[in-house]
Amino acid sequence: MQKWIVANWKMNGSKNLLNEYKNAFKSIENLIVCPPFIYLEESADLIFGAQNVNQLAKGACTGEISVQMLVEREVKYCLVGHSERRQQFHETNNIVRSKAEACLGANITPIICIGETLEQYEANQTTEVLERQLAECSPSESGFWIAYEPVWAIGTGKTPTTDEISAVHFMLRKKLPNTTLLYGGSVNDDNAATIIAIPNVDGVLVGGASLDVAAVAVILKHAR
Ligand code: PGA
Repeated sequence: MQKWIVANWKMNGSKNLLNEYKNAFKSIENLIVCPPFIYLEESADLIFGAQNVNQLAKGACTGEISVQMLVEREVKYCLVGHSERRQQFHETNNIVRSKAEACLGANITPIICIGETLEQYEANQTTEVLERQLAECSPSESGFWIAYEPVWAIGTGKTPTTDEISAVHFMLRKKLPNTTLLYGGSVNDDNAATIIAIPNVDGVLVGGASLDVAAVAVILKHAR
């Protein structure tokens, strides 16, 4: 089975990178590109996801984007609750759940990000933290995806061991048998093959390495 690659550009990239993606990855069915909002296009060439959305339908929220606006751009996926949003923009589990529910209501698949901090990891609290986030962030309706992203692995070049990722994904699979489960945090062209092969990992969420088209091409090769 093909595994998913979700490319999270964060506040990086350019029109030029978008064109590189269109040239390199036209009609690839297992690649979801999440550029900054301004680069989202109605395009048959790439599958687009958003990095965030507001939970409200409309209103006085300067600088925000609603699910209906994403629908107008034919966006099919949306990251919600990325740890950078939680840390820098104070998104709580409640807000994350509202965003996921808004997405599902508009037929957009929310990719809910969960993960423990370094402090929690070192205190052996990973399972308990993830269980709480899952309980508080998951909508009652099915159709969402989960991305396990240890906060300490994001952008650091560090990853959990294969056994640790395997244990977390086994726990997630038991709770969510029919849910697509991604791993994210310092995935690159060197470690992607190993991570993608871990049981119950249905794909990877890639940040920094997704800015390099050659690296994405290698990761995609391992995902087939
Ligand atoms: P990274 O980011 O691949 O740069 O660690 C992943 C993410 O934050 O989604």
